[in-house]
Amino acid sequence: MTALQAVSRWFESDISHDKYFKKIMDELYEALHKSQTTLFCLMQKTWVYHWNIIGSDFFQLHEAFGDQYTTMQSELDRLTEHMRYLRMKAISQISRVVETSEIPEASANPTDKLMVSQLLSDNKKIIDLLTEVVESAEKVNQYTTSNIAQDLIETHGKFVWMLRSFLKE
Ligand SMILES: [Fe+2]
Repeated sequence: MTALQAVSRWFESDISHDKYFKKIMDELYEALHKSQTTLFCLMQKTWVYHWNIIGSDFFQLHEAFGDQYTTMQSELDRLTEHMRYLRMKAISQISRVVETSEIPEASANPTDKLMVSQLLSDNKKIIDLLTEVVESAEKVNQYTTSNIAQDLIETHGKFVWMLRSFLKE
């Protein structure tokens, strides 16, 4: 079963359909879900790297990763509560969250440079997924959903800039 099929099955089993919900296109639904579970995994990965960082850049990367994962906690809360407004439920099993995430899990013993380059690529991925949310949301006039996704894109764009600058890319 693919991750997307897993999501679809979850939609069918857990969501109550009403008149309002039926207006929301399936693609918006899937885009929000992929963004939410991927953001959850990126938060966890950044948090783990905040703990596991070693080396001469420990202090600055420990602090930078700390700022990023705490920001992502607030983002997740905002995004997921908005999904509840749209009558979507958050996936409750961690294994399902990982299954539907679109980024690789944290590596066991990465160097500090590898941590930064992985998080750079993961933050770019989040921006791609959130852009899908914006595009899908505006097709069905869900401008609040689009606004929230755009706010998150701005924040992750800032993270991309910082991580890229650290790597001198
Ligand atoms: Fe900490």
